[in-house]
Amino acid sequence: MRQVFVIEGPTVLQGDVDVRGAKNSVLKLMAAALLAPGRSLITNVPAIADVRIMCELLSRLGCGIDYDADAGTVAIEVPEAPGITADYELVRLMRASISVLGPLVGRMHAAEVAVPGGDAIGSRGLDMHQRGLEQLGADVRLDHGYFVASAPGGLRGADIALPFPSVGATENLVMAAVLADGVTTIENVAKEPEIVDICTMLVSMGADIEGIGTSRVVVTGVERLHPVEHRCVGDRIVAGTWAFAAAATGGDVTVHGVGLDLLPNVVDKLIEAGASVEAIGSEDAAVAGFRVRGPERPRPLRVSTLPFPGFPTDLQPFVIALNAVAGGVGLLTENLFEARWRFVNELSRLGAQVSIDGNHALVTGVGSLSGAEVEASDIRAGAGLVLAGLTASGTTEVSGIDHIERGYEHFVEKLTGLGAAITRVEKPETVIP
Ligand code: UD1
Repeated sequence: MRQVFVIEGPTVLQGDVDVRGAKNSVLKLMAAALLAPGRSLITNVPAIADVRIMCELLSRLGCGIDYDADAGTVAIEVPEAPGITADYELVRLMRASISVLGPLVGRMHAAEVAVPGGDAIGSRGLDMHQRGLEQLGADVRLDHGYFVASAPGGLRGADIALPFPSVGATENLVMAAVLADGVTTIENVAKEPEIVDICTMLVSMGADIEGIGTSRVVVTGVERLHPVEHRCVGDRIVAGTWAFAAAATGGDVTVHGVGLDLLPNVVDKLIEAGASVEAIGSEDAAVAGFRVRGPERPRPLRVSTLPFPGFPTDLQPFVIALNAVAGGVGLLTENLFEARWRFVNELSRLGAQVSIDGNHALVTGVGSLSGAEVEASDIRAGAGLVLAGLTASGTTEVSGIDHIERGYEHFVEKLTGLGAAITRVEKPETVIP
């Protein structure tokens, strides 16, 4: 049997929704725990499939894991000498597994990590990870689908300039450098809030990092780190998903757990679409939030995705879904991943008028989409199809929902809480005799 989401539309979303920690941070925080023997505790952890995969990966490296999905905590007991091998069996399920590479080479001076496949959103090279570790003194080669890295005498500080501010490469190289001998300077690093979160945890573990949140970080290696308790930053992409869902459905949604400071360019675009956006709560990240009230019909948006603080590529499907029902012609330019268009073919099944030219998606808004069967190809594409289904008239059936559950906790329950008519239904597999 396979599971699908069945949505009856159209819906106007209304109410309050809580957002917990960022998938793209928590997985790396868990990897960072490998850098210190002893028990680290991460809080504000979302109940998503990727966290369970990372728990399994760390447990196979010899860590004791205590994951309480309801409480949103994961305790990681790291041994004095963790294993060094991350198998393809797990890595193929989750690309973020590559983030154990830096910590393992940094601490154990050796690692064997399968090269990930991951989301269906482009080729997603790893050359900057490899080259950066080599500059830190590791020998890194690709052997039968694995990165095999070794630095028998330990890593040593180096001057590294990234050709592009890659999120994953920044994280891996900072995590590798914190225990290296000497000073590492990394230019053109990514500045995403998740990077700031990881660096903040590393500093509280005893690391010496300057320039956090800027394009240039200076890491002075220390001999040993200690375990910590750390609260994961809120998920700005999940928060942005709810914001676009409110804007596209003409709804009124209050999001708790993420402040507007994490959504700089997103807020401007929501307002441009005709939504009103209001900060609520306080400066305290745990209670920060915002309210989005959507217009009767959104105005079309012109958006270019860029590294933070630019508009996030992970919110791209929601812009396209909003443009699909907007009053006019909108344009989305994708600058980070080259093959993020599989979503568009599915959206067309709902009646969206989208034409693709290179990395541009030109969308002519239609009065209303019409429900149909569609398939999710990655996390955000899946959530984008659900959003489109909420605006469509009639029944939309979204398959491939395991993708969505990799990144969104209690998705059906949260949507139901906002007034959506969505259910999870079991369907038989198609069998060709
Ligand atoms: C992370 C996020 C992902 C988000 C992306 C950009 C996680 C688990 N995933 O992915 O949700 O969409 O940041 O904000 O945190 N590149 C290379 N060589 C490299 C590294 C990257 O060519 O060594 C290219 C990639 O192919 C891609 C671009 O750089 O075109 C951006 O990749 P990167 O910033 O590294 O994204 P991820 O860390 O994979």
